[in-house]
Amino acid sequence: MKSLRVLTGITTTGTPHLGNYVGAIRPAVTASLNAGTESFYFLADYHALIKCDEPARIQRSTLEIAASWLAAGLDPARVFFYRQSDIPEIPELTWLLACVTGKGLLNRAHAYKASVDKNTAAGSEPDTDVTAGLFMYPVLMAADILMFKSHKIPVGRDQIQHIEMARDMAQSFNHLYGEHFVLPEAAIEASVATLPGLDGRKMSKSYDNAIPLFAPREQLRKLIAGIVTDSRAPGEPKDVEGSALFQIYQAFASTEETNALRQAYADGIGWGDAKKALFERIDREIAPMRERYEALMADPAGMETILLAGAAKARELATPFMAELRAAVGLRGLGTKRAGAGAGAVSATPSPSGMAALPTFKQYREKDGQFYFKLVDAKGQLLLQSTGFASPRDAGQAIARLQSEAVAALADLAGQVVPAPQVSPATIDDALKALQRAAAG
Ligand code: TRP
Repeated sequence: MKSLRVLTGITTTGTPHLGNYVGAIRPAVTASLNAGTESFYFLADYHALIKCDEPARIQRSTLEIAASWLAAGLDPARVFFYRQSDIPEIPELTWLLACVTGKGLLNRAHAYKASVDKNTAAGSEPDTDVTAGLFMYPVLMAADILMFKSHKIPVGRDQIQHIEMARDMAQSFNHLYGEHFVLPEAAIEASVATLPGLDGRKMSKSYDNAIPLFAPREQLRKLIAGIVTDSRAPGEPKDVEGSALFQIYQAFASTEETNALRQAYADGIGWGDAKKALFERIDREIAPMRERYEALMADPAGMETILLAGAAKARELATPFMAELRAAVGLRGLGTKRAGAGAGAVSATPSPSGMAALPTFKQYREKDGQFYFKLVDAKGQLLLQSTGFASPRDAGQAIARLQSEAVAALADLAGQVVPAPQVSPATIDDALKALQRAAAG
C-alpha cells in the first residue's frame, strides 16, 4: 500500500513561540507517529531569503527551529527532516515549474497583490520594492511540495492559495510531459487552536505579542504575568469568554483541568492566581523539552550532522526524480535511446520517432468544465479514454487506481474509463504494468 505523504515547511526567520507549538509543531509531531503516513518537515531557508536579508538571523533561526522541532519530539529517523537549501534539486525543479507557470497566475498571488495594492495606494510604481523572489515565492513552494509527491500539506489558511497554485503547476506539467506529479491538497486542521498572544490578538511575531516557546522559566513566568486581563478584583466572578489567559490554558490542559479553571473563574479567582496556574501548567509540559532544546542549541555541529543526514535521505528521492523530470522535458543525454534513461525514469512524452517507450496519462479540461484523462501509448495511440470528472482530484484518483491495480481497476471504473475500440485488455494491462514498473524505479 502506498502511504500518505504529508509535507510542510517552516520559514527560518524567527524564534518559535507558543502559538507555533500549539498550532504547528505539536500536531505535526503527533501526526508523524501515524503508521501509514510518511512525513516531510523542512526548514524553508530559501523562502526566508525572500523576507530577510540578515544572514546571522537566518542561521540562528534555522538552528532554533530545528532544535525546537526535535526537542518537541520529532524523530528524524522516522520522518524526513531537512533543510531546503541542502537539496539542490529544489531550485532546479523551481525552474522547470517556472517554465510551465503563467505569469498571470503569479500576478494573482495574495502576497504579491498586497504589495502592489500598497504601492498603488501610496502613489508609487506597482512593483516598487517587490523582488523577483517574492514574485516567484509560489513556484519555489510548489517545487518543495511536488518534489516529494506529497498528498497533504498542513498549512494555515493564508497558504491555501499557494497549494492551489502548486496543483495548477503540477497539472500544467503533467499535461505537457506526462503524469509525473501528484496533485497536492491543503490540509487545514479546524480543531487546531490559534493561540491568542499577550495582548489578546492572535499570537504572532509581527504583533510583538508572542511568548517564545523555550523562554527560560523565569522569563516565561514574567511574560505570562503580562497577559491582558480585565480589571476585576479577586472574588469577582470572571468571564472565560474572550479571556486570552483561559484560551492559552485550554490549549495545554486536559478537559478536567480546563473545567476546574472555568469553575475557578466563576468563583472569582484572582488574576494573579490564574496566571500562576497557567504558568505552572505550561511549564509542566515545556520543561522537559526546554532541557532538550538547550542541549541541542549548545551543539550546532551536532545539529548540522542531523540536518545533513536528513538531506541525504531526502535526496534519495529527489535525485532520481529530478533525473526523470529532466529527461521528460528533454534535458537528456544526446546518446540516450530511451527517453528518461536513468534511475526511476518513467513516462516521457510519446515522440514520433518512438524514442519514448512508455505510455502516458494525459489530463485535460474540456469546454464543459469537466476534467478528463486518457492513456496513450508511446506512439500516441489511444488506449483508454475517461468520461468527465467533476474535479481534477477525482480524475487523479482514477488514474492512481489504474496505476496501482492495472487492468483490474477497469471493472470498478466502468462507465468512467472506457478502453479504446480495437484495443485488447491485454494491451492495456501491459501498458499499465509498464508504467507501474517504471514508477517503482
Ligand atoms: N510558505 C510557508 C509559510 O509561510 C512555508 C513553506 C515553504 C511551506 N515551503 C512550503 C509550507 C511547502 C508548506 C509546504 O508558512
